[in-house]
Amino acid sequence: MSKSESSSQKAFFARIEILNRRIQEAKKHGLYPYMHSSDAVDGVHITVQGQSLLQFSSYSYLDLLGHPKINAAAKKALEEFGTGTHGVRFLTGTTRIHVELEKKIASFKKTEDAIALSTGYGANSGTISALLGRNDIVISDKVNHASIVDGCILSRAHFVRFEHNDMESLEKALAEAPKKGTKLVVADAVFSMDGDIVNLPEVIRLCRKFKALLMIDEAHSLGVLGKKGTGIEEHFGIDPAEGLIDIKMGTLSKTIPSIGGYIAGNTKLINYLRHSIRPYIFSASLPPASAAAAKTAFEVIEEETWRVKKLHENMSYFLKTLHVSGFDTLNSQSPIVPIIIGNDTKALEMTRLAKNEGIFIVPILPPAVQPNTTRIRTTVTAGHSLQEIERAVNVFAKIAKSLGILRP
Ligand SMILES: Cc1ncc(COP(=O)(O)O)c(C=O)c1O
Repeated sequence: MSKSESSSQKAFFARIEILNRRIQEAKKHGLYPYMHSSDAVDGVHITVQGQSLLQFSSYSYLDLLGHPKINAAAKKALEEFGTGTHGVRFLTGTTRIHVELEKKIASFKKTEDAIALSTGYGANSGTISALLGRNDIVISDKVNHASIVDGCILSRAHFVRFEHNDMESLEKALAEAPKKGTKLVVADAVFSMDGDIVNLPEVIRLCRKFKALLMIDEAHSLGVLGKKGTGIEEHFGIDPAEGLIDIKMGTLSKTIPSIGGYIAGNTKLINYLRHSIRPYIFSASLPPASAAAAKTAFEVIEEETWRVKKLHENMSYFLKTLHVSGFDTLNSQSPIVPIIIGNDTKALEMTRLAKNEGIFIVPILPPAVQPNTTRIRTTVTAGHSLQEIERAVNVFAKIAKSLGILRP
C-alpha cells in the first residue's frame, strides 16, 4: 500500500484483509461451514466429499427436488428449447412455457395474473423499485429479506422500518408517515431467519385503515402454510378473492425445486410490472427447462396432497422434540427452526461436530442476524422420517451439552 493512499482507501483494504484473515483462520481449524461442493443433494440428504449426510438445512420443504414428474418436464423442455433463451423476457426470452408457468402461478395464488422472473431477488428488488419513487413511503419489517431491503433502497422512497412483527410499531410508522405519496407495507410471510409467521390479519387491518398497499413475500410459505400449501392467506382463512394482499411475491427456488421468482396480482398491476421491472426487462429470461420444472411442481403440490400434511406433522414433531431437549427456537412456527447458540465459535464448532455425526446443518452469524443471536438455522422437510428427526435432535442435544450450550 503506498503512503499516498487516503485513510478511506486504507480502511477499504483493511476490510478486505480482515475478512480474508477470518476466513483463512476458520478454514485452518476446519470450522469454515460455507460453500461445500456437494455431489448429490435432495430434501433429506447431501453428499459432501463422498460422505452422505442427513441434512436439516434444505429449502426443499415438500421434498420435490428430483421428483420424477418434475424432472421429466424439465427434460422435455430442454429437448424442445435447449438450455437458454438468449434473451430477456421483454424481447425474445418469452417461450410458451413461460406463459404457461405464469398462468399456473396465477391460478395457484388465485389472482388475475402473474409475472415470472429469473430470481426471487429480482422479483422483490425490481418490483419495489418499479412501484415507488422519491415521493412515496415504504414501511418494511425490520427482519425482512435483503432483497426487500435492496428494493426499498433502490426505489429512493422514504424508507421506514418497523419492529419485527410488532403491530404497534407498524401502526406508529403508518400514522407518522407523510400524508402525500403512496404508502407500501412489505413483510415476509414466514421470516427467513426466525421461522415465525407475519401477523397478517392485523397487518391487513392497518393497511386498510391507513390506505396503504400491501406486499407479502411468500418465499418460505408457498407449499408450506395452509392445508393445501397455497400459503399465508390459506393459513389465516382469508379468501384470496378479497384481494387484501395487493402484491403477492414468491420464489421458485425453495418449495418449488427450480429457480426464479414471481409476482401475482391483478391484471393492471402485472401489466405495469411487465413494462417496468428492470430485472425483467434488462436481465436474461429464466431457462425454459426451469420454467417447466416450476410449472409442474405446482401441479404436483395439488396432486400429492400428502406432502403438505407430512410437512406439518414433521414441523410439529421437530419443534416439540427440540423444546423437550431444552433448545431456544425463538417463535418458530414453520419448517425454519433457529436453534439459538448465541456464540459464533460454538455455532461453528456445533456445525463441525454434527457433520462428524453424519448431520449437515448451517450456522448463521452476525451481521446476517442480530449480535448474540448466532444460530444454527435448521429446516425440516416432508422427506424426513420421524426417526431421522429424533436422531438429529439427539445429536444436537449431545453436542450442545458438550459445548455448554445446554445444561448437561
Ligand atoms: C424471504 C426471501 N425472499 C426472497 C428471497 C430471494 O429468492 P431467490 O433466492 O429465489 O432469489 C429469499 C432467498 O433466500 C428469501 O428467503
